[in-house]
Amino acid sequence: MNIAVIGTGYVGLVTGVSLAEIGHHVICIDMDDEKVMVMSKGESPIYEPNLEELMKKNIDENRLMFTTSHHSGIKNAEVIYIAVGTPQQSDGTADLRFIDKAALDIAHSLTSNAIIVTKSTVPVGTNDRIKEIMHDHSSSEIDVHIVSNPEFLREGSAVYDTFNGDRIVIGADHQEAGEIVESINLPFGIPIYRTDIKSAEMIKYASNAFLATKISFINEISNICEKVGANIQDVAAGMGKDHRIGNEFLNAGIGYGGSCFSKDTNALVQIAGNNRHDFTLLKSVIEVNNAQQMKLVEKAKDVMGQLRNKKIALLGLAFKPNTNDMREAASIPIAQTLIKEGAEVYAYDPVAIAHARSFLPEEVVFCETIEDTISNADAAFIITEWEEVKSLDLATYERLMNVPLVFDGRNCYSLEKASEYELTYISIGRPMVSHSL
Ligand code: UDX
Repeated sequence: MNIAVIGTGYVGLVTGVSLAEIGHHVICIDMDDEKVMVMSKGESPIYEPNLEELMKKNIDENRLMFTTSHHSGIKNAEVIYIAVGTPQQSDGTADLRFIDKAALDIAHSLTSNAIIVTKSTVPVGTNDRIKEIMHDHSSSEIDVHIVSNPEFLREGSAVYDTFNGDRIVIGADHQEAGEIVESINLPFGIPIYRTDIKSAEMIKYASNAFLATKISFINEISNICEKVGANIQDVAAGMGKDHRIGNEFLNAGIGYGGSCFSKDTNALVQIAGNNRHDFTLLKSVIEVNNAQQMKLVEKAKDVMGQLRNKKIALLGLAFKPNTNDMREAASIPIAQTLIKEGAEVYAYDPVAIAHARSFLPEEVVFCETIEDTISNADAAFIITEWEEVKSLDLATYERLMNVPLVFDGRNCYSLEKASEYELTYISIGRPMVSHSL
């Protein structure tokens, strides 16, 4: 199949490369000249395990190309994937400017019948809007059908997820178009779930909203555990034994971050509101998450009183381990508040420092090692559970800090382990391990 993919961001690039890997001829289109030049050499602009290897292989085997020209990319394509961004606007709604532009480019370039597959996360009804744009702007001799095919990739394992996902959702209102997109996806060997377009659009938002709800729920339980003296890890493990609940996404911590959960939960609240439904549950999920991101600061104030002139070490800055993505990372509001409170903030991340500089206040001092960051600190905050952070011997905190006081936002150490050291260890939803301060 000849496939064009519009947009080579996270979703577009992984989609294009994966479709080439299963045997299709793929041309990826992006407006950015420099980016297209880099990708044509087999270099990936994003860090994603295995992506570059697959790019190089499929370029060498002539199944993968990159271009800046919408016209040449689209004109011979049988199927065109739209994988452009739908960023969040200030009111929480999704900005559909890039979707509209992609649809117009397709309408102006298409010379024969084609199927448009929407990969971007779009509000319910957007595929109808694409259909209208095609109807108004493309040649009347051409038949175009729209299919919704949302992605469920996680950053850091996007290639793995593409070949090992739980399901591929295909939403089509035209039977044959749905069948063609199903046949394109068959080589992935993943169960395919067919539905109508609007339901497919909703599955994407509902899935992310549900996962976010699971996280906010367990975080609220952890807050109660702290009050009653229970241990959230034991509680989550006990809950997860019920297969109806499942044991994943029950890690309490300082909330979810990243590009999807925050954007998609806000957008779904807006979609509900626009349709005269007040989605109070999801609003609470968002509110709980905002509060949860500040838990370590609250705990530090309880224990230390004033934070003014206190040296505080932040360990891990990215929104989760194994990525340099800083979008919606808990480290951002934490660093902002600490600086406002007059603390001296020292920060470390194995890969995200270059990105973090533009997200964190300029007063933050970036360090090259964990040891430099915690040396002489009055408190350390564990924000992202990088392997390097998790595996740090607790004796290092005891040895290097001014006051050995560790606030762990990701429950990296067992309480038994922490109690073997002369330090005060305060985590999420678990009793404090205390040594006199
Ligand atoms: C998520 C979805 O998992 C994916 O299906 C969707 O396509 C995009 O959004 P991603 O943002 O890459 O993927 O990250 P994910 O691994 O799901 O983690 C999101 C956030 O939730 C992270 O900040 C993580 O720390 C947090 N999290 C996750 C928890 O706090 N507790 C958990 O139990 C799981």
